[in-house]
Amino acid sequence: MLPTLRWAEPPDGPALVLLDQTRLPGAEVELVCTEVPRLVEAIRALAVRGAPVLGLAGAYGVALAAARGDDVARAARSLSDARPTAVNLGYGVRRALDAYRAVGGGPAGASAALAEARALHREDAEASERMAAHGRELLSGLLPGRPHRLLTHCNTGALVSGGGGTALAVVRAVHESGELERLWVDETRPLLQGARLTAYEAAREGMPYSLLADGAAGSLLAAGQVDAVLIGADRIAADGSVANKVGSYPLAVLARHHGVPFVVVAPTTTVDLDTPDGGAIEIEQRPAHEVAELIPGVPVAPAGARVYNPAFDVTPAALVTAVVTERGVASPVTAPNIATVCSGSLPQ
Ligand code: MRU
Repeated sequence: MLPTLRWAEPPDGPALVLLDQTRLPGAEVELVCTEVPRLVEAIRALAVRGAPVLGLAGAYGVALAAARGDDVARAARSLSDARPTAVNLGYGVRRALDAYRAVGGGPAGASAALAEARALHREDAEASERMAAHGRELLSGLLPGRPHRLLTHCNTGALVSGGGGTALAVVRAVHESGELERLWVDETRPLLQGARLTAYEAAREGMPYSLLADGAAGSLLAAGQVDAVLIGADRIAADGSVANKVGSYPLAVLARHHGVPFVVVAPTTTVDLDTPDGGAIEIEQRPAHEVAELIPGVPVAPAGARVYNPAFDVTPAALVTAVVTERGVASPVTAPNIATVCSGSLPQ
């Protein structure tokens, strides 16, 4: 697979080159962003998407503005505002901007911002590895002595990260240890990140997977075919509430009803201790045509239908069995346990 994102130096750059996720799985095509407005547009269109990689895009975006000699503060604002829910975007932008300012801006600032973006990229890849190990161990404890049948929603693999991803990185680790009986992949309407992206990654990696319509998850759980549900997160509030792709909350309710563990996998950069609870998380509302058309240009609703299209929903902490981070596992999911895991004081 082409890299999810990469920095290009002159003569091809400076540029941030994205694997255009809107074209997958049909075509593996790169999208070259040589200026920040193009990158902002790519973020809004979901050519690059998923919380951790949005942080990287934000940081490299600041480096791009600095390398071009643009108004860096303005570019940073437009990047941060491109999407509101994933806290990683603002985090990545801030880290690169702080590095730029710390050396007084200019060419030295451009080098510092780029170095910071690269450092964040490395950290994110390392976090993926640690989450995968912690998550696999957690599942072995929760589901002892049997191969796992795991259900996931949206896309949380290498396409969302500088490394292997979050929830899908755990699934990959389970698969590599020979313990994955089946990965159930929710198609994830309306933009089909499950069907287009998770199935693409699972197929490439030889995982035994089956795709299902989101509405089929209930009967699948009722039939006893799911041992655990694993998802990622776009923002985790201080009280442990989890904002993730719309459709995650109903899965958590179903999982609780059927006595199945509901596990969230996310780096600590996705935890926002400044957001007190789920009600304080801004949920992105997306355009009507994403629901009213099955794929772009193919309408499935009467012209002019009013549409409710939140990109995310919030799952209360009480429905989450565990939050797996690179610094360890918070379980039960309570405000003190979330704070402890973020402070890094759990054994890693
Ligand atoms: O709208 P998207 O595709 O950016 O939404 C992505 C998700 O909801 C992912 O599940 C989330 O970012 C976690 S990925 C680590």
